[in-house]
Amino acid sequence: MKLPNIFYLLFIAFFLGSCSVTQQQTQDQQEYNNGAVVTAHPIASEVGVAILKKGGNAVDAAIAVKFALAVVYPNAGNLGGGGFMVYRDKSGLVNSLDFREKAPAKAHRDMYLDKDGNPITDLSLYGQLAAGVPGSVAGMEEAFKKYGSLSWKELLQPAIELAEGGFPITAQQAGEFNRYQERFKKHNPNGAAIIRDAEWKAGDLFVQKELGETLKRIADQGRDGFYKGKTAEYIVAEMKKGNGIISLEDLANYQAVWRTPIVGNYKGYKVISMPPPSSGGVALMALLQSVEKYPLARWGFQHDSTVRAMVEAERRVYADRATHLGDPDFYSVPVANLTDAKFNQDRMAKVSLKRATPSDEVKAAKFPGYESEETTHYSIVDKDGNAVSLTTTINGSYGALVWVEGAGFLLNNEMDDFSVKPGTPNMYGLLGGKANAVEPGKRMLSAMTPTIIEKDGKLKMVVGTPGGSTIITSVFQTILNVLEFDMTAQESVSAPRFHHQWKPDYIDVEEKAIDAKTRASLQKDGYGINKRGPIGRVENIVVLPNGKLQTGADPRGDDKAAGY
Ligand code: DON
Repeated sequence: MKLPNIFYLLFIAFFLGSCSVTQQQTQDQQEYNNGAVVTAHPIASEVGVAILKKGGNAVDAAIAVKFALAVVYPNAGNLGGGGFMVYRDKSGLVNSLDFREKAPAKAHRDMYLDKDGNPITDLSLYGQLAAGVPGSVAGMEEAFKKYGSLSWKELLQPAIELAEGGFPITAQQAGEFNRYQERFKKHNPNGAAIIRDAEWKAGDLFVQKELGETLKRIADQGRDGFYKGKTAEYIVAEMKKGNGIISLEDLANYQAVWRTPIVGNYKGYKVISMPPPSSGGVALMALLQSVEKYPLARWGFQHDSTVRAMVEAERRVYADRATHLGDPDFYSVPVANLTDAKFNQDRMAKVSLKRATPSDEVKAAKFPGYESEETTHYSIVDKDGNAVSLTTTINGSYGALVWVEGAGFLLNNEMDDFSVKPGTPNMYGLLGGKANAVEPGKRMLSAMTPTIIEKDGKLKMVVGTPGGSTIITSVFQTILNVLEFDMTAQESVSAPRFHHQWKPDYIDVEEKAIDAKTRASLQKDGYGINKRGPIGRVENIVVLPNGKLQTGADPRGDDKAAGY
C-alpha cells in the first residue's frame, strides 16, 4: 500500500472516530503468518507493514516506522530524542544499538541547581536547557548501514509524505493537542504547526511542512542532513532563543554505539535486553532471577503471594538501580554482579513475604571493588524471523515542549533523567547518585527495556513499553503474563498492571489491578497502595509454536497491530 493515500487516511480517521471508545476497553487478538508490526499509532504500524510487504526486513521497517512516528506521534516519536534498539536476526545473532541522547559539552554536575545547591526542577524539564544532544537520526543511519536492505530514501518517503500532506489525528491526539496548547504557546512564542486557535478535532489533518523539509534533508544527506548544515544551524539558533547549550560541535560529534546486549536465562528462556546506559536489561534480568524460584504459575496472576514476591523483588532491584546504574562509558557498572542469578536468588531467599519490608531498610547491594511520559515502543518481526524491539523517547510528553523553529521537530527533556542532585527524585520519582550525575558527553540513565525472548533457539517474544520508571516492571509483568500465566499476546498487554520502585514506598496500581481482597491483605501487612492512572503502553509480539505471529497492542492508547 502506498502511503499516505488520502482515501485510506480518511478511512482510518473514520475508523478511529467510530471505535476509539471500545478500543480503550478491548483489542481483539490478531495473528499474522508473515510479518507483524505493533506501534503506538495505526498509521505508523501500516507504514511498517508496507515496508515489510515490499521485501524490506525488520530493520528497514523499524527505520521507516521511527521516522513515521516522528510525524504522526509527536509526543514521543521523534527526531529530537533518542532510544535503544535490540535486534535478533533469524539465525539467533543478537545486537543492540544505543542512540541515547548525550549531555552537551558545556553541561556540568550542578547545572540544574540554584546558588544554595537546591534543584531548579523546571530547568531540566522545560525549555532549551532540558535537551540532551539528540541521537535518533544517527541511530537510524547506523542501523541502516549495518542491516538495511532497501534504499534509505525509500524508508524516509512515507514520513515525508505524512509530514507534507498531513494525516488525520486520532481522538486521543486531538484531546492532547488541545490540553497542551497553552504550554506550547508559552515555549514557542513564534508558533509551531501544532499551535492554533481553533480546537483540534479527531480526523483533522495535521500538516508539518518544516518537519517535511527536515526529513527531506535527512533523506538526501543522511545524518549530515541533521547534525550538520541547515538543521544543525536551526538547532543552535533555537538554543540561543532560550538558555540552551547544544553547540554545532556537540551535534557533529554525536555517535550512536553498538553494545553487547544483556543476555540471561529465565527457566530455559533466553532473555535479550538493553544494556547500560539503560538500566532496563540489567533490572529486568535481576527481577526475573529474583522471582524464578517462586511457584508463580501455581499461585496465579496477581495472587496475593505473586504480588508480594514481585514487589519485594522490585523494591530491591530499584534500590540497586539508584546506586549502581549509569553510563558505562563514564562509570563502572557492576553488570555481572547485578545479573548474577545466585546473588538475586540468595537475597530473595532471606525475604519474608508475610510483611512488607520497609524501603528505608532496603539498601543497594554492596559489591567488592565498586563504590558506593513520553516514550514509545514498537515491536517488529519480518517474514524471515528477524526481530526488532525498539523504544524511543523525548522523555516527557512533547519533551521540552520546544519545537526547533524552522526545522519543525521537538527537543527532548532527557537531561532530567540524570540525577541532578543525589537524593533528589527526578520526574519519575527515581533516585540516583554519582553513577548518574551530569557530566559533559555522558548519557543519562534510562529505564527503557526493549526486549526479545527466545526458547530453544527460536524467537518467542518481542516486547517493550514507555512509562518512565514503570517501564521495567511493565515489561517484567508482560513477560510473566505470557511465560507463567499462559496469556495470549493481547491479554498480556491488556492485563492491569502494578509497580513498585523502592521509593516512594508504595505499590502503584491501575484501577483494575490487584483485587480488593488482595489489596486489603497487602495493606494489613504493611504494603502501601497508591491508585493511579494507566501504566505504560506495551507492544508485544509472541511467536506461536505453529510459527504464527500473535500480536498485542496496548488498549491504553491508539496502539495498533498490523501484519500480513
Ligand atoms: O529513558 C527513560 O527511562 C525515560 N526518559 C523514559 C520516559 C518515558 O517512558 C515517558 N513515557 N511515558
